[in-house]
Amino acid sequence: MRGQTTATILCTIGTRPEAIKMAPVIRAFQAAPWARCRVLFTAQHRELVDQMLRFFEIEPDIDLDIMRPDQTLVELTSRLLVSVHAAIGRERPDIVLGQGDTTTVLATALASFYHKVPFAHVEAGLRTGSLQAPFPEEANRVLAGHLAAMHFAPTLSARENLVREGIADDAILVTGNTVIDALLLAAGRDVPIGVELDASHRMVLVTAHRRDSFGEPIRQICRAIAALHDRFPDVEFLWPVHPNPSVKPVVEHAMAGCPRVRLCEPLAYGPFVAAMKRTTLILTDSGGVQEEAPALGKPVLVLREESERPEAIASGVARLVGHDPSAIVGEASRLLEDPVAYRSMARGVSPYGDGRASQRIVDAVGRYLGIGEVLRAAG
Ligand code: UD1
Ligand code: UDP
Repeated sequence: MRGQTTATILCTIGTRPEAIKMAPVIRAFQAAPWARCRVLFTAQHRELVDQMLRFFEIEPDIDLDIMRPDQTLVELTSRLLVSVHAAIGRERPDIVLGQGDTTTVLATALASFYHKVPFAHVEAGLRTGSLQAPFPEEANRVLAGHLAAMHFAPTLSARENLVREGIADDAILVTGNTVIDALLLAAGRDVPIGVELDASHRMVLVTAHRRDSFGEPIRQICRAIAALHDRFPDVEFLWPVHPNPSVKPVVEHAMAGCPRVRLCEPLAYGPFVAAMKRTTLILTDSGGVQEEAPALGKPVLVLREESERPEAIASGVARLVGHDPSAIVGEASRLLEDPVAYRSMARGVSPYGDGRASQRIVDAVGRYLGIGEVLRAAG
């Protein structure tokens, strides 16, 4: 590779958060004169990603059309590994990039390894320390991380996690999280939420989708939202419901008696950012939303027992509340009733980045491939 002035970069996307967090990286590669950027979309998610690709004006070069309704992990992993491996064989990239901790990332890292093509991991080093939680994401990111040649850590603590696991120091770069690049891009556009809400009401935004939340935890979350609905007649709840069959029917059934709980289809990124800007409070089990909410000055209650994103919790702008309805109702009520408690969590800190992570990634990949040296020598 060294000595060439161009390189083929294969950027992979499978699910909604990967589309959002890879969009600014793809755009930065597309703007780099030396990079031939190819976008591989596994379609582990279908409509959730299609709406994001439209929003960011990204056209995948390859679409593997993997998603099946109610897919199991083993079917998904096997189909992804075979298809991504074949796609890398056809594309023959100089480097492959993948983001986060989904099954798409695990399959991509392994398929790249089998091809002996370097894999660069975006959002590297997030850890809870328990391989079982979140399931299966912690295992996905540990495995993908150990197959990677380059590690783009969003924060210093993510870097420390990698160093503790024996990853070479010079293979890690702290870049910030590319989600902040995406957020700044979207926050600059004036997009309506697209759901009619009562302007005289305060708003609470809710999302939930994790496999760890399936079954009783999601029902507990619903019971907590119903209790908050009854307690706060001046609050409207907006809940864009994930299409997963283990989530959607449960939420629709449990929320049927709560007229101010406005369930809607998943929102495209612009409208969702508009909803985050408008809301008083966010309740979520999402990873990405935990990173975006602090940057927008919105308190976030994390509907999980653990988090791999300790920075916002340490800064006091996010709080782990788990699934227990009394804990959720207690913390949310305190924030809705006590302006001092609310202000202490609504401080607008952004521990996850400065909006320039994608450019750092592009520059580092160029250096890794020896492109910078060649261009400098030529210029
Ligand atoms: C996946 C990721 C999770 C990530 C989440 C982001 C894995 C194992 N899980 O979880 O880490 O946090 O995406 O949202 O990689 N579905 C649709 N349309 C879509 C997307 C999903 O109908 O556009 C339904 C399908 O029935 C699908 C099911 O949701 O089979 C589950 O999708 P899957 O990607 O397996 O799991 P998620 O819970 O979405
Ligand atoms: N998001 C969105 N529309 C929605 C819900 C979420 O655009 O209706 C965005 C959100 O801003 C964040 C990302 O989707 O950037 C998070 O995706 P998700 O919660 O599905 O996955 P996770 O981050 O937990 O892996």
